[in-house]
Amino acid sequence: MSKLFVNVQNKKGKINKEIYGHFSEHLGRCIYEGLYVGEDSKIPNTNGMRNDVVQALKEMKIPVLRWPGGCFADEYHWKDGIGQKENRKKMINTHWGGVVEDNSFGTHEFMELCRQLECEPYINGNVGSGTVQEMSEWVEYLTFEGISPMADLRKKNGNEDAWKVKYFGVGNENWGCGGNMTPEYYANEYRRYQTYCRNYADNKLYKIACGANADDYDWTDVLMKNASNFMDGLSLHYYTITKNWVEKGAAAKFDEKEWYTTLKKTLKMEELIYRHGAIMDRYDPEKKVGLIIDEWGTWFDVEVGTNPGFLYQQNTMRDALVAGINLNIFNKNCDRVKMANIAQLVNVLQSVILTEGEKMVLTPTYHVFNMYKSHQEATLVESYIETQDIGVEEENQVPNLHESVSVDAEGRINVTLNNLSVSESYDIQGIFADREIKSVKGTILSNEMGAYNDFDAPEVVKPAEFIDFKITNKGVDFKIPKCSVIHLVIE
Ligand code: AHR
Repeated sequence: MSKLFVNVQNKKGKINKEIYGHFSEHLGRCIYEGLYVGEDSKIPNTNGMRNDVVQALKEMKIPVLRWPGGCFADEYHWKDGIGQKENRKKMINTHWGGVVEDNSFGTHEFMELCRQLECEPYINGNVGSGTVQEMSEWVEYLTFEGISPMADLRKKNGNEDAWKVKYFGVGNENWGCGGNMTPEYYANEYRRYQTYCRNYADNKLYKIACGANADDYDWTDVLMKNASNFMDGLSLHYYTITKNWVEKGAAAKFDEKEWYTTLKKTLKMEELIYRHGAIMDRYDPEKKVGLIIDEWGTWFDVEVGTNPGFLYQQNTMRDALVAGINLNIFNKNCDRVKMANIAQLVNVLQSVILTEGEKMVLTPTYHVFNMYKSHQEATLVESYIETQDIGVEEENQVPNLHESVSVDAEGRINVTLNNLSVSESYDIQGIFADREIKSVKGTILSNEMGAYNDFDAPEVVKPAEFIDFKITNKGVDFKIPKCSVIHLVIE
């Protein structure tokens, strides 16, 4: 029997809804086909956006969407993507498959997508190959209400009113695809570029500087030392890669060894947040600068027969656990982690949705986001679970259980609990201090480790009601099945 202790009196801070954020890049079939099919498509759409995908994402309560990249962002020139579509420049997407990018999805289309999704836009500007003027003018085009060259151009292109844009990224992976810069050089560039990203009227930008690649702690140190006074957020990118960058491992065909290695590598996120956070604390003890984990998730080998530059991969129960663990970690570190964006939204890497023509599939990762959505804007509370180490290799042992707990505005307690074992179920004794439990509503996502949804079998992995619990005088007792994610709403 593992004890799960919850103390709702010990409130730890607000879980920003943006922790449940997403990322969409001009990469493979994410934007084109996945989100945007154009107004003339036979796939049902509203102003070119797929109705089925938009509806599913709204149901999941997508809070924020990052765009246009990724590596693509530092090659993107926003003026190529405005005005009459037939006049828009065609370019080569050099990073991703060398395909033609016709710029038919640009600023207006992205803002329309966010309007339909009812989510915050997060726009990533170009430092690597763009200019200060270009970035400055993009902000003006987006957010300036009065008379100015860029506001006039926006009006000419059909948008009389300025948009509201809060989240703005100044470059992406500038240590790599965004210009191969040193941290000292980028810190100076960041300071210069962000100067001209103006706050017009009441539109206050939340400026996000490019942060470290995984455990590059020196990058964080230099950025915080040289530029923390000029930023609201500092990013961090960390992908779960089971094997290595050359041979990453297959997404849907794997053994138990790979299962535990993947989860072990996922848990590294805790260490990264802790260590980057400790550096940030030295320069910013009041935690004014948010840690923005704007790329995370699994990265496997592409599916056989698909374009290697499109990064299309299947999504199994293993991805569900990776999502559940990461989201629990973000919740538990909500004092520093202010946003996180899984890569990527549709058809690329650890997607919540896969599409094929008119068909759409919700992945196990989607179901986890949907189950966890009640944590959005809730208050993290103290929780602790007794665990034991499990796994098939000495070096890749993981805790068998992983949890986070929040209380929402109505006083409901949300428990999200993962069972990382592929073979064992565990008895849980939930102990809730100073709180009498009246009712419990449960949802469970569970299946064999390699189970996934595909276009001819879209509901192999789907949430079910979880009723196998007993309310006690201390709290609630239940058994968590192997390889599962559970969400309990407790009143
Ligand atoms: O998400 C795919 C790529 O991974 C992004 O374009 C880049 O920022 C990262 O290296």
